[in-house]
Amino acid sequence: MVDAAQLRLVVVGHVDHGKSTLIGRLLHDTGSLPDGKAEEVRAISARRGMPVEWSFVLDALQAERDQAITIDTTRLWFRTARRSCVIIDAPGHREFLRNMISGAAEADAAILVVDAQEGMREQTRRHAYLLHLLGITQVVVVVNKMDACGFSEARFREVGSAATGYLARIGLHPVAVIPIVARDGDNLGQASGRMPWYGGPSLLESLDGLLVAAPDSTRPLRLPIQDVYKFDERRILVGRVEAGRLRVGDSLLFSPSNRSARVATIESWGPGNAPLEAGAGDSVGFTLDEPVFVERGDVASHHDQAPKLSPLFRCHLFWLSDRPLVPGRSLRLKLATDEARVSVETVERVVDTETLEPVDRTEVRRNDMATVVLRCRELLSLDPHAESPATGRCALIDGFDTVAGGVIDLVGFPDQRPTVQRRSSDLYMVEHLLSAEARAARNGHAGAVIWLTGLSGAGKSTLAMQVERELFARGYAIYVLDGDNVRRGLNADLGFAPEDRAENIRRVGEVAALFADAGVVVITAFISPYRADRERARAAAAGCFHEVYVRADLATCERRDPKGLYQRARSGAVAEFTGISAPYEEPEDPELLVDTAENSLEACVAAVVRYVVERTAISAG
Ligand code: ADX
Repeated sequence: MVDAAQLRLVVVGHVDHGKSTLIGRLLHDTGSLPDGKAEEVRAISARRGMPVEWSFVLDALQAERDQAITIDTTRLWFRTARRSCVIIDAPGHREFLRNMISGAAEADAAILVVDAQEGMREQTRRHAYLLHLLGITQVVVVVNKMDACGFSEARFREVGSAATGYLARIGLHPVAVIPIVARDGDNLGQASGRMPWYGGPSLLESLDGLLVAAPDSTRPLRLPIQDVYKFDERRILVGRVEAGRLRVGDSLLFSPSNRSARVATIESWGPGNAPLEAGAGDSVGFTLDEPVFVERGDVASHHDQAPKLSPLFRCHLFWLSDRPLVPGRSLRLKLATDEARVSVETVERVVDTETLEPVDRTEVRRNDMATVVLRCRELLSLDPHAESPATGRCALIDGFDTVAGGVIDLVGFPDQRPTVQRRSSDLYMVEHLLSAEARAARNGHAGAVIWLTGLSGAGKSTLAMQVERELFARGYAIYVLDGDNVRRGLNADLGFAPEDRAENIRRVGEVAALFADAGVVVITAFISPYRADRERARAAAAGCFHEVYVRADLATCERRDPKGLYQRARSGAVAEFTGISAPYEEPEDPELLVDTAENSLEACVAAVVRYVVERTAISAG
């Protein structure tokens, strides 16, 4: 009885440990080979004077595919007693990776093949680590070529426990460890007479016990736009529903452009009525009720459960290129149907897949697994892999080569959509009757935003207040916006989660821009740890924004600890504390840098005062 949902499988392991033989034999034993194929393989093997070589099955099928381009090149089907299974990648390291990246490898489970004599090899470990990276948690370990070690139970236990030991360290717990001889079919379909000491399930039995992930149609809608076709007046958007369901009448949100419109029609390719909905896996063409601008790379979703928007994200990747990956390196990012240039912001961790220990270097070498932070100039539409496997992965391209595949992790990175969202429409700008020049002429200086950024305890507030007093005495229209103060009123609803900080800085950036527009010199004293937030504040006060990096090294700030917060952060009493448990992104190219660890307060105040006087002088333009 075949009742269960189709199981999607990958077969991984070291290149010589028998993956192809296993697949060939599985297809044969389950009666899944096309007519005559088994005889063909037997004949070829006999002609070469060797035992039946089941891996020829794959070669033979491949040859057929090469001629018939309509046949899927990577999928092989077979049936167990209970269900149908599909192997969604043919063996071969590059293939596996390419498939993982292109999204085909959304496997429910994996068979990890280990040679009984050789045991776990480097490539076995690397593949196992990839499974972990991809979130594939159901693994069956087969210890192959048991005949070559005399069907030794002791050897099986040894190899099996080395495999389970490694898997356990990366959080994987195999559902079964099975001694097999793939070539002869031992323990594939039924118990092998040659290993009576083994009382566990056969491979096919163990596959029957595995779970199939819920169909992606139950997840939030993700439809990356592949193309937009124009027919007469109509614009038809085309793409594949990667997850969720699309229905006529749905209000869609496109990311990262953040535009929205309703689905007017879903087009039908053939005769018959146009469909009213489509689900995961369907390729669709559809039209919108409004002519909003949508392009290739945009991802359609529903408004609730939309992807996050951020120019910055963390990626757990596998590096394939001989040329090492280093911070600052620029590459092309492929993200669903979108492509963008990104640069490597930081290399957070390099892991040796052999020992699973972090390696003490920030250069990522071929076959390394690494955690890196990537930065793009624009906002990207991002999904964490854990929540949306189909859209939560990406590839990095160098020239024409795919040099890395990875999965997206957004822990600690705020959704910046609120910062680009405008909820009101039908707005009309009202012009002032006063010019900036007139205001400057009255004040004797131009308005400006002097944006102090730096760690807590770096001296931002102290500096800001002293500069304010000094310039006030000189007749300046000046005011300080300070984090601890603004958070008591305007921003009393915000905490210190990344999203909250982004919103904190967005509001302050807008308020500061209004102050500057009114002709005032406004000094802001906020940690403002994220570069993207500061860049947005700069854009809000375009032309009169000055970033001042108030620098003091972490050790100095911690020693000063004016509010006792560092101590409480170290003890865990204050969460997400900048510098301790939350990031601070240093300014790359600030207009002014004052180092309060190396210079006296007076010197720093004087430097800022001098800077403000110079840059707001009316003659300065
Ligand atoms: S920002 O990151 O959003 O720019 P902001 O400058 O407004 O921070 O507020 C920082 C001040 O809040 C600090 O000077 C400190 O007094 C207080 N604070 C409380 N909790 C935290 C925290 N987890 N991280 C940083 N500052 C905190």
